[in-house]
Amino acid sequence: MRLVSTLLAASLAASALAASNCNGNDALCQRLYSNVTYIGTHNSYAVGTSAADNQAKDVTAQLNDGVRALQVQTHTNGDTINVCHSSCALKDGGTLQDYLTKVAAWMNKNPNDVVTLVMVNINNHKPAEFKTIFEAAGLDKLAYAPAQAASSIDQWPTLGSLIDAGTRLVVFLDNSADFTAVPWIIDEFTNMWETKYNAVDQQWACAVDRSNGQSNSMMYMINHFLDKSSEILGQTILLPDRDKLNVTNAAEGPGSIGFEVSNCNMLYGRNPNIILLDFYDSNGNAPFVAAAQMNGVPAPTNSVTPGANVASDASPSGTAAPQMSVSSIRGQGVALIPAGGLAAMGMAVAGLVAGGLMF
Ligand SMILES: *[C@@H]1O[C@H](CO)[C@@H](O)[C@H](O)[C@H]1NC(C)=O
Ligand SMILES: *[C@@H]1O[C@H](CO)[C@@H](O)[C@H](O)[C@H]1NC(C)=O
Repeated sequence: MRLVSTLLAASLAASALAASNCNGNDALCQRLYSNVTYIGTHNSYAVGTSAADNQAKDVTAQLNDGVRALQVQTHTNGDTINVCHSSCALKDGGTLQDYLTKVAAWMNKNPNDVVTLVMVNINNHKPAEFKTIFEAAGLDKLAYAPAQAASSIDQWPTLGSLIDAGTRLVVFLDNSADFTAVPWIIDEFTNMWETKYNAVDQQWACAVDRSNGQSNSMMYMINHFLDKSSEILGQTILLPDRDKLNVTNAAEGPGSIGFEVSNCNMLYGRNPNIILLDFYDSNGNAPFVAAAQMNGVPAPTNSVTPGANVASDASPSGTAAPQMSVSSIRGQGVALIPAGGLAAMGMAVAGLVAGGLMF
């Protein structure tokens, strides 16, 4: 009798967590979501070779390569909400619904993976508006709703329990989240703080930049993408430092991913949850190897090849006439415009800068 109940208890314990191979590893199934480091893509929809692009491969390829955190800027674009970079006139990545539909397709094919979406809400849309779009993309069903609006690092579920529950998508919104209206659209800055973005030096100081809560008990994201000042049409703007990608996206060495993570770990005693990168594919699978090491799991064996849209560092040429007014492109931008397409796109760079746009 005793043996039977012991066996029963053991089998119940074993079956308590059905998930295996969570985000590629059995060991991660038992790990809290908040105790895992994920590689993320800055402006994940801004794919191509233009001045406004931050990635060379599309979101499906990003996920196939091992990216598990996707950052997007959302903008009003007529009747729709689109994923755009600084403005939809500058870079229009299409509707948020189409983007989310691609994420849903990938997630449905990969039932053992937890994916994080970090949304910048440029035009302060209400959670209910996003909810409708997630429903249309079939992603609302996969979204995780925490028990409270703000969770400390010890209140997150394990990857295994997220996967078992089928709520494998964690959605953060930088402003206007409303737990009572849509509990699965999670307020970013009371749950996760960020280092500053648009860093221009390779020191990666790790200071808390944007936060709205108890930073020491929240998750954190490092904006590990390096910019440089560029002169365009006589104006200084910040663009991705593509010449240094081989250093920035390396696993170790001064200025690398490992370098910033160890700086942060010295300060905070734990690793970042999200490492946000530009052109994550520049260094093969180095970022994924680095993250696996942080997570204490074996390095992934897949090889990451650079995207076809290899970014060039060409200077803009030509002086096409401006085609948009400054007021229409003003906004609380995040991120940056790579060099090389501004003039071609007919942008009034002077106006952009004067208009207070941040990249
Ligand atoms: C966090 O992860 C580390 C391994 O990286 C592990 O030793 C520790 O037990 C984990 N803590 C929790 C609460 O999951
Ligand atoms: C990065 O590339 C530059 C120029 O292409 C080169 O001089 C430098 O040695 C490279 N650094 C690393 C760490 O590979």
